[in-house]
Amino acid sequence: MRTHHCNALRTEHIDQTVTLIGWVNSTRDHGGVIFIDLRDREGLTQVVFRPDDSQEAAQLSHTLREEDVVQITGLVAARLKTEEIDTTNPDLDTGQIEIVARELTIVNKAEVLPFQLDKELSNEDLRLKHRYLDLRRPRLAQNLKQRHIITKAARDHLSNLGFLEVETPILSKATPEGARDFLVPSRINPGKFYALPQAPQQYKQMLMVAGVEKYFQVARCFRDEDLRADRQPEFTQIDIEASFVSQDDIISMIEGMLSSMFSQARGVEVPTPFDRLTYKDAMNRYGSDKPERRIGMEMVDLSEELKDCEFRVFSGAIANGGVVKAINAKGFADISTGQIDKLTKLAQEAGAKGLAYIQARDTDRSTWRSPFVKRMTDNEVEALRSKLEIEPGDLILFAADSWEPACEVLGRIRLEVASLQNLLADNEELDFLWVTEFPLLAFDEEENRYVAVHHPFTRPLKEDEEKLRQGELDNLRAQAYDVVLNGYELGGGSIRIHESDLQSSMFSALGISEQEAQEEFDHILTAFKYGAPPHGGIALGLDRVVMLACKEESIREVIAFPKNNKGAELMTSSPAAASGTALRDLRIKSTYVEKPKAE
Ligand code: AMO
Ligand code: AMP
Repeated sequence: MRTHHCNALRTEHIDQTVTLIGWVNSTRDHGGVIFIDLRDREGLTQVVFRPDDSQEAAQLSHTLREEDVVQITGLVAARLKTEEIDTTNPDLDTGQIEIVARELTIVNKAEVLPFQLDKELSNEDLRLKHRYLDLRRPRLAQNLKQRHIITKAARDHLSNLGFLEVETPILSKATPEGARDFLVPSRINPGKFYALPQAPQQYKQMLMVAGVEKYFQVARCFRDEDLRADRQPEFTQIDIEASFVSQDDIISMIEGMLSSMFSQARGVEVPTPFDRLTYKDAMNRYGSDKPERRIGMEMVDLSEELKDCEFRVFSGAIANGGVVKAINAKGFADISTGQIDKLTKLAQEAGAKGLAYIQARDTDRSTWRSPFVKRMTDNEVEALRSKLEIEPGDLILFAADSWEPACEVLGRIRLEVASLQNLLADNEELDFLWVTEFPLLAFDEEENRYVAVHHPFTRPLKEDEEKLRQGELDNLRAQAYDVVLNGYELGGGSIRIHESDLQSSMFSALGISEQEAQEEFDHILTAFKYGAPPHGGIALGLDRVVMLACKEESIREVIAFPKNNKGAELMTSSPAAASGTALRDLRIKSTYVEKPKAE
């Protein structure tokens, strides 16, 4: 249907007769002469309809509307460029030429679109309802292309290293990754359900027992959890598992892969190796297990300096075994009262009792505005000054609490301050890093039991293995690692348990009874008895990788047909009600009826 695409013709094609097909991107009427920009996936070409060249085509061109699909045959010509007039367009790859139309076929007319494609549209639901139009916009079309390039880079990299791509079931069994499962009723087995995989975790470990040694999959995962800008109920992982590897092997393999993905997508070199921080360090310095380091403002511990402080909020927290942490928001002393109130509210929502602050207006402490600084000794003030490197114009923010909540609260405040100060405007830096030595278990106060921080197949550090076997569960560390980019968790993984008895100890640490473990995880406990190789792996969130490579702020912008924040896919209106017959076949009552309580 065409001889060239719409971004192919250059001055060397002048005088050739060509045929193009695509969408009318825009039309302009210059005193009876019609100009259109014709668009296809590759770009734009200008076409001109003059009555002198073809009466018929020129007449028809007056009826063209944006987004009509048209086929055009004509002659490639140089655009007019004299001393007085220059009609060339340096912003377009085809900007030196135009097509002088001889024939025009209107292949398919377009009605007036529900929204204009060349304007930003804040109504995301309208965009999603007509996603096939939304995806015609250059930005989204470019994002889809980048996603392909990045996925291919990962596939190529892993294939070159000898990894095999193996598919695992979508209709499968619940995997404990910490979210709620999507369930699919089985018609043939009434009353039974498949779970959609939250991740292929157990299958990939079984592939290791099967001797595959190096597995990967571009895997669809399903998690029924609350949505956010970087979370979808259905998303894609580059899922990886390998046998006979150490944590360092996996880390360096992923560094090579990410570096290849970003250099192919963004044309930038990604220096390796990435920095590594332990979980403890990351929390201490940035108050987050996925630190955004580009904003500076490291957290400083002042517990030693302020333990005798007359301000009870500080000394009291320390006396209770807690800490006082602070950050210096450079040059932000003129923060408004409204902004302070907003930060305080944020701290309170995150579980803090308040947010102590000092507006260090000038050098002398008498100029400092703060609810408590008058209760500090000169020594204490000097200690703050030197540890926080306070200069005139700085704002200091404090959290006093037990270690973890204090770190977390101040970590959130730190990010909010950076956003108020707009510290990351136009920052193009890619800050990759690893967070290692995560805790193996966390105590869940509500459930009154330990839960797995990563998942129950994660191996403890060698020196903590015996403690797990003995049931000493406090402060166990895991051979688990996350890769972080600019404050986002791109991926996470671990070295796994491969011994049946150690896996049983882990289940019992999590309060899973022997019987439950047999029912849910018999395949694992049994498989590990038949010669399971040591193994480990990782999964990268592909949507997040592409989002960051495309400099987008939401993963919805890099997914062809995403769900909105209510979990709906608006173009096809899913989820939808099921017919009575379908439900009857599945033996599901159409409304859930609470069972009557036994007498
Ligand atoms: P984890 O649960 O950390 O690990 O997931 C790995 C990565 O997947 C991405 N991700 C998501 N992306 C979009 N929407 C979501 N709802 C979502 N949830 C997770 C994140 C995350 O870092 N089986 C283990 C991996 C392993 O141990 O090998 C797992 O799934 O980028
Ligand atoms: P108060 O003496 O309770 O009026 O508190 C004085 C200041 O300390 C206020 O700015 C509070 O927001 C702040 N504050 C109270 N509790 C804490 C805490 N645990 N950590 C940090 N700041 C706090």
